[in-house]
Amino acid sequence: MHMKMTLMVMATLLASGLAGCSKPVTYADVEPLLMKQCASCHTDDKEGVVKSGFSVSSYDSVMKGTRLGPVIVPGSAASSTLYRMVSGETDQKIHMPHNGSWLGVGQLKLIERWIDEGAKK
Ligand code: HEC
Repeated sequence: MHMKMTLMVMATLLASGLAGCSKPVTYADVEPLLMKQCASCHTDDKEGVVKSGFSVSSYDSVMKGTRLGPVIVPGSAASSTLYRMVSGETDQKIHMPHNGSWLGVGQLKLIERWIDEGAKK
């Protein structure tokens, strides 16, 4: 009984240790999410691009941001307009995605980690 508990604790510690060392999140990890949740309005001449200039068609366009400037501050999700908009920290009128749906907790965490870890390509 005790042995089993100890093994479980060790397994948990090992797993969290490994997670801590996992490789940084890159754009390749985030891209499928942006394609699924944002591309319908933020590619080509769709309404999101027409109205704001923000396009998710490439890493460079995402980093370029809107016509007014960047929406991502590499290293700080909390300071990034994009993260604030999807996580619900801005006015509801500008919450993204604009269609009333919300990103899942796992998706938000992924974007947060990506930006916090430097928004790498
Ligand atoms: C249903 C369409 C739609 C979807 C889906 C959508 N957007 Fe938007 N987005 C818009 C429109 C339209 C605007 C222009 C501003 C406005 O009308 O509020 C905009 C503006 C923006 C802006 C610029 C805000 C500013 O400061 O001007 C960002 C950043 C943004 N969207 C990010 C996203 C992200 C990230 C996703 C996916 C998680 C997403 N959007 C999904 C329609 C959409």
